[in-house]
This record gives sequence, C-alpha cells and structure tokens, in this order.
Amino acid sequence: MKGIILAGGSGSRLSPTTNSINKHLLAVFDKPMIYYPLSVLMLGSIKDIMIISTPCDRPRFEELLGDGSTLGISLTYQEQEEPNGIPEAFMIAEDFIGKDNVALILGDNIFYGQGFTTMLRNAIKHHQHATVFGYRVKDPERFGVVEFDHQQKVLSLEEKPAEPKSDFAVTGLYLYDHRAVDLARKLRFSNRGELEITDLNREYLKRGQLNVQLLGRGFAWMDAGTHESLFEAAAFVRNIQQRQGFKLACLEEIAYYMGYIPKEILYQKGKSMEKNDYGKYLLEIANRKHTQQYWEAIDRNPMLGLVENE
Ligand code: G1P
Repeated sequence: MKGIILAGGSGSRLSPTTNSINKHLLAVFDKPMIYYPLSVLMLGSIKDIMIISTPCDRPRFEELLGDGSTLGISLTYQEQEEPNGIPEAFMIAEDFIGKDNVALILGDNIFYGQGFTTMLRNAIKHHQHATVFGYRVKDPERFGVVEFDHQQKVLSLEEKPAEPKSDFAVTGLYLYDHRAVDLARKLRFSNRGELEITDLNREYLKRGQLNVQLLGRGFAWMDAGTHESLFEAAAFVRNIQQRQGFKLACLEEIAYYMGYIPKEILYQKGKSMEKNDYGKYLLEIANRKHTQQYWEAIDRNPMLGLVENE
C-alpha cells in the first residue's frame, strides 16, 4: 500500500500564525505536526510515501524530512497549487499510486491509543475498496459525519451537516483501492468551493463498498487545525509523554523498532540533538534494555504472569 500525507491548504483557521509558515510545520508540543500523521503511516508498515504541500512550502518539508532514507523509508514530494480539496490529492498522485492501494492521511490528524497499530495493520491487510475510521465527538458538525443503524450498516455520509445525524465524525485517515483516482476525477466542487472527500466516500457507499471502522472510547483522535485544538493536542501529547516517558510519534524510534534503521543511526541522530529532550530520548532508546518485542508482548497480553519470555 502507498501512503499520502496531505499537508497543503492555506491554514486560514490558524492565521496569523500561519501567514508565513505552513500549519503542518508548527510544533505539536515537541515535534512538527507532520510527524504525527507520518508516524501513523509508518506504524501501518507503509514505506512509500508522498507528501503533498503547496509550491511555496514544499522546500521546507524536503528540508525537514529529506528523501526518508534516514528513517528507512521513501519520501517523495508533490504540490497542490490551490486548496481545491482533499480528493485532488489522488489526481496529483496518480502515477505514484498506479495500481496499488493507497492510504491518505491529513497532515493535521493525530491518532493515539492502545491497539491502534494492530487495528491499522489489520485494516490494511484485509483492505478492499474503501475504509474510513469513525470516532465519536462532541461537535460532529465540524466534520464529515457517518450515520449507521443498529446492525452497524452505514446509512449516510454528510460533510459538516448543520444537523448531524450521528455523533460519529469521519477521521482524516482513509484507505482506498486505485479506483479512487478515477472516482475523484468525476467529483464536482461543493458549495464551499472544494472537492469533498465525503463525496468520494459516498461514491463507494453507493456501490456498497465502504467499510467503516469505529475507533472506541479508549482512542484519542485530534485534529490540530484551530488554535484551541492545536493547544489541546499539544497538552495531550505533553501529558502522556510526561507521565509514561514514552514519546508519541518519535519517527526514529518507530523506524528503529520496525527494523528500518540500525542502532548506529539512532545513536548518531540522538548525539546530534543530545542537548535537547528529543535527542536524549533517542539515546535512551539506543541504550534501552528491553526490545520492541518485549513492549509488543505487553501490549498484546498485559496480564503479568502470562507474558511469554522476551
Ligand atoms: C476534512 C474533511 C472531513 C473530515 C476532517 C477530518 O475537514 O472534509 O470530512 O471529517 O477533515 O479532520 P476539513 O479539514 O476540510 O475541515
């Protein structure tokens, strides 16, 4: 499966902060926002990733993440000239997608929760047609909304409805087969002047080919697209990190545990930033006693006494 991160847009909801910097480069506590969606794709074992941003911001992303080789992945870059909406990403990435399946994630979306990686890998492994992820929120009118019945059959999808038919938002992580490119091409601009991802999802729904995976109450899903939500996301990240001593979305940690980079690279990266907390964390991982298998075993079976040997 290929991966796309959409990191374009004008960021007008974060103006004036974003007047001269792309939203997705702003910090969510201790690392750039784009690290969070990139970590999701990496955890899903997706190694071939395209980052789509604006023509003027593209060099900044390239400067930050390069060709991905220091993370053991491949990163390429493309431009969205105008904020024409999410589905345009598929037209831009047509050659990159080819006949593959594709995961698209919005650059301001943050996912966190025990079991998320397993759930995502399963969704990717068994993927057919289109899969979206639903999450209960207090303010569904801000999002795409999915309505379903008691048998969990999807009834409707609406983009930012004034009167939402459910409390379940469609998050900014989508899995599609390659037909998304052709279906996106047929979409019309909405009243807000954009191609809507909800309209693309509706096309799959019409064909009986839309899967909706719900994320339960133990998950955190946040978008960091307004000053309030950016602040809340940063506070959330800080609290979890501060309490547990694990970092969220530490790309080098993920790359190391996925077996993409050797310990030496992790160590070198840590050394180059050893004066700050992020660098110290990388050095700590390089010196950790326990392996990733050990932590994964705990995740799978948190009942002590039943954990198998390391
Ligand atoms: C977009 C989508 C919406 C989805 C949301 C998730 O909204 O249009 O359906 O629920 O992302 O973050 P936008 O960021 O354009 O307001």
